[in-house]
Amino acid sequence: MKHHISFTINGQSMELTVLSHQTLLEVIRNDLRLTGAKHGCSTGECGACSVIMNGEVVNACMVLAPEVDGTDILTVEGLSDGEELHPLQKSFIDHHGVQCGYCAPGMLISAKALLSRTSRPHEEEIREALVGNLCRCGAYADIIKSIQVASRARR
Ligand code: FES
Ligand code: FES
Repeated sequence: MKHHISFTINGQSMELTVLSHQTLLEVIRNDLRLTGAKHGCSTGECGACSVIMNGEVVNACMVLAPEVDGTDILTVEGLSDGEELHPLQKSFIDHHGVQCGYCAPGMLISAKALLSRTSRPHEEEIREALVGNLCRCGAYADIIKSIQVASRARR
């Protein structure tokens, strides 16, 4: 069954026709060609597909496309300001928060949501915010450090 949906993504209004069984992840990667969010497990376990929907981190593989109607979505592509990287992105680069990089978009999205709620999170709060994001490279220490440094750099 087809559904006509309208929503906002990275500040841009969007109207699309989607199918009942399509996921948000399929829509953003295949239809909108925003390939930052990654396809990992498809079962809500790894967090590689994380996006922010109405201010909350969601696993895009677990959201059906018709549910997106009327929502506001932020993907990792929406973090930078044109060519200017977000402080979190800069910090991930500077502090080795990216190894193979597969988990990085999801980690950045969870970190962005955390810093929207708490400007100077403690390490424990960072760990808690990343609980749904797996890193197969085991780069957790550098990821946490990257987030800590970015939060301290914020005015
Ligand atoms: S691909 Fe969505 S949680 Fe793993
Ligand atoms: S950097 Fe490779 S999965 Fe996290």
